[in-house]
Amino acid sequence: MKIEVILTPPELPALARRDWRGATCVVFDILRATSTFIVALHNGADAVIPVAEMAGALEIRKAQPGVLLGGERDGVKITAAQSGGPAFDLGNSPREYTPQCVKTKTIVSSTTNGTRAFRACAAAPAVLAASFLNLDATARHIQDHPVENLLLICAGTRQEPALEDILAAGALCELLSMNSAVELPSDAAQIAMHSYAQVKTRLLTAICNSSNARRLLAIPELADDVPFCLQRDTHPVVAALDPAGRLRAIPRLPRPPFQKF
Ligand code: MLT
Repeated sequence: MKIEVILTPPELPALARRDWRGATCVVFDILRATSTFIVALHNGADAVIPVAEMAGALEIRKAQPGVLLGGERDGVKITAAQSGGPAFDLGNSPREYTPQCVKTKTIVSSTTNGTRAFRACAAAPAVLAASFLNLDATARHIQDHPVENLLLICAGTRQEPALEDILAAGALCELLSMNSAVELPSDAAQIAMHSYAQVKTRLLTAICNSSNARRLLAIPELADDVPFCLQRDTHPVVAALDPAGRLRAIPRLPRPPFQKF
């Protein structure tokens, strides 16, 4: 298996011309889209539909009035003024997506970068959502379903790389390299792996200096999202896009954890 990493958002448009045969994509948006999606699915949501634009979310709500609208602009819940329709039901804090709120629900989510990253790789045969919260479960699933090419996508922030996404991609590369038959990872994957290896014993400190973390830490009601999203393997769910573009939990048997490093 060859591991590649998309480090920055400007690399995403080229994916439209990629030959996806034999490839699996893993999307990382640690602060906070994929962390939030994993919490929602772990807490019983039926599905999460990532859409790039707010208008797309409103169209789905019109057709399916029972869905919940979630997401953010500038980190905060989308208002009626921003959407041109109703205010969204939920922001993008994983702590909002409690079982009482999301159980059996479908959530339509529009965020700044995370949902766009999913749209960019929607043509891939398999697309997974990963975070630190479900990293081990995701690694185990990939090991159990080997592919030729594994493409890790770091969603980033606007047009900039996001440190936390790259570190999470590096952590997954490290897990897989220790447990699977992995060819020499691409240079971008090695950048992610070496970056993670440098800071893995002080991850919170390192990530608190990232632009996304600093933005969230400056908003009192969102500050706790940063340590929350850096918890390891607290939400062991494997999440994959289905053919209809809905992120759903893949049923899985409890498995022993990967060897921790
Ligand atoms: C994103 O999609 O860029 C992030 O998830 C934004 C956020 O949650 O604040």
